[in-house]
Amino acid sequence: MQRRCILIAALTAALLKADDIPVYRNPSKTIEERTEDLLSRMTQAEKVGQLSQGVLRPGVADPNAYIQPIRSGAIGSYILGLNSDDPAARNTLQEIATKQSRLGIPLIFGFDTIHGLRTVFPIPLAISCTWDPALFEKLEAVAARESRAAGIDWVFGPMCDLARDPRWGRVAETFGEDPYLASLFAAAAVRGLQGQDPAAPDRVAACLKHFAGYSAAEGGRDYNHTNVPEFAMRNLFLPAFHAGVRQGALSVMSAFNANDGIPSTASRFLLTQVLRDEWKFSGFVVSDWEAVYETIPWGFAADEAEAARRSLTAGTDMEMVSTTYRDTLPTQVSEGRLSQASIDASVRRVLGVKFKLGLFERPFTDAKLFRSAMVQSDGLALAREAAARSCVLLKNEKLLPLERSLMRIAVLGPLANDRDEMLGTWPGHGSAADVVTLAEGIRAKIPAARVEVVRGCPLLETQRTRTLTDGKVVVDESADDARTATIENAVRAASQAEVCILALGEPRGWTGENASRARLGLTGRQQQLLDAVAATGKPVVVVLFCGRPLQLTTVLDSAQAVLVAWQPGIQGGDAIADLLFGDAAPSGRLTMSFPIDVGQLPVYYNRYNTGRPVLEMVNYRDLTREALFPFGFGLTYTSFSYEPVQIKTGETDMASALITNTGTREGEEIVQLYIRDMACSEGARPQQELRGFERVRLRPGESREVHFKLTDEVLGFFGRDGNWRVEPGSFQIWIAPHAQTGTPASYSR
Ligand code: NOJ
Repeated sequence: MQRRCILIAALTAALLKADDIPVYRNPSKTIEERTEDLLSRMTQAEKVGQLSQGVLRPGVADPNAYIQPIRSGAIGSYILGLNSDDPAARNTLQEIATKQSRLGIPLIFGFDTIHGLRTVFPIPLAISCTWDPALFEKLEAVAARESRAAGIDWVFGPMCDLARDPRWGRVAETFGEDPYLASLFAAAAVRGLQGQDPAAPDRVAACLKHFAGYSAAEGGRDYNHTNVPEFAMRNLFLPAFHAGVRQGALSVMSAFNANDGIPSTASRFLLTQVLRDEWKFSGFVVSDWEAVYETIPWGFAADEAEAARRSLTAGTDMEMVSTTYRDTLPTQVSEGRLSQASIDASVRRVLGVKFKLGLFERPFTDAKLFRSAMVQSDGLALAREAAARSCVLLKNEKLLPLERSLMRIAVLGPLANDRDEMLGTWPGHGSAADVVTLAEGIRAKIPAARVEVVRGCPLLETQRTRTLTDGKVVVDESADDARTATIENAVRAASQAEVCILALGEPRGWTGENASRARLGLTGRQQQLLDAVAATGKPVVVVLFCGRPLQLTTVLDSAQAVLVAWQPGIQGGDAIADLLFGDAAPSGRLTMSFPIDVGQLPVYYNRYNTGRPVLEMVNYRDLTREALFPFGFGLTYTSFSYEPVQIKTGETDMASALITNTGTREGEEIVQLYIRDMACSEGARPQQELRGFERVRLRPGESREVHFKLTDEVLGFFGRDGNWRVEPGSFQIWIAPHAQTGTPASYSR
């Protein structure tokens, strides 16, 4: 359809005399020609308008509020407010931009489609536990289709930050703690969102965020200062961004943090040296929300003029929400404090992306597409598959899978039947009405059983149920009525059941942005609920709904089986029921370590060996430093054994190991390759780094040899100059089921 539009536009152009149509409107010209032509026609105010982004707030009934700035060209982009799921308002504004402004430059509309738009998938941290970037690419393609149909041209994702501290609420949006795995997911996201041609009516522009180091916030407190030195930045925090840039991402968002005192939004090192000079990124950089202005409270810029000047010249092309660019840049140029060239360079980049998205040819959303694109059957099937495959089984004392012959099942806990909670952080345009809860999934799976559903306690001490209906938050005052909200009632239901399935965790509002936690246990009185139910002596399965690793020792004490289901999206209930009753087997593996105690944080697998690696010296006096569940860990309904790693030298050296299914059921294993570079002249390398993995499906008793090539790509690191290199010397090589096990083989090159 897009091609047809371009063809028609090209034919129309050909029929008109060359003088009649400006070069920038002629799709047969190159993007560079069109951009230069348009730039040459723009006033300074129109140029700075292209570098300014406002918010389209739903519920602002009076579109007049928007008309004047758009008509005059003072604004080039809008963030669509949450729940603005009617593309008509967006089309109205676009009509003003394209038909009533002097040059008719289309607006670009951005939105946080983070894990699906209306078809809400599991959160990114959950998806990363599938270790399946190809699956994620498919989910992102569905998210792109729904987004573009809803009038969203540009999605603020993927998040490429590295998760190192579960107190930080935004780990939910990451792909976990490993830079190699996160890079694969970041690249897959860009492919899924942008496709071959981001101008296609079912694709959008991606935005890699938050550049960079944001997740290293001190104490896991959101928006805080970070101290990431350059070598660590290049090897840990930048690779996922680099992967996204290599995949052709059209935009990057600068982060809220200041690293070593320099706000990322004004970091010339990050935005110019690394992003443009080294990586040759040609899209545009948008600041995070008011981050240009925030360089002032950071104590970096003295006033708005300096904030704008230093952010722009560092490489932030577009300012989100705050207005320092619009208010100060034109004067700064006329007074000689800023070059015209720096403004023009940023305008070129923004216009270039608008041309690449085909916005000049197809500025409007098709209302028919909007209706038909949402919640299609392929998206629903993917949502169910993704939810099942992202669950991680942490404990199973011969309880799972459950027998289908069970007649009395108690489904307990505040998350057993709460639709809204399943949508997770950044729910997009998700609707609670689309959600299948765990209670519903179990009822549908075992229709003959008597399934009693009791909340037992609220998620927080004083909580009322919230549901999203037509974009409004509805508070259900009756949700905590005495019948379902007391622990006693849950215990009564438990005592009459053959098995108790408890749906516990943390509220979705305690995850995501501005949702750091100092304690990582179950919230409210959920632990008491669990202990009381366990005291009945009935078998207990805990299904955890959370956006981060929680502190689980006391949960493990009371449950025979524990399955982490994260924030699973609209198909969560059916997917989890599939796993609990053996229609599917858990295959997810953790991508973020679970601590024993908050006092250990940060706990991540790719730490340094230290100069005194004896246990007594690296552990605490009162606790081990090891994770409770390490990176890469996850059980399934069978077991696997690993033979020692073999190294074979040849044209390409190889590491291999024989993996055997030692259990009684068919199962899937994610075989993981870790390396350690034993001596690195530029700086010590971590004591373990993931550099490959392979998924194997084996029948009981079946074995397979899994091979990994030991190439430069596998063995190298980013030097301080930003180049990937391998130094000759010794390495250790593990092929293992997770990061905290296995004996490495030695290898030299
Ligand atoms: C702030 C968040 O940090 C960012 O991730 C998001 O994309 C923007 N707000 C826009 O909503």
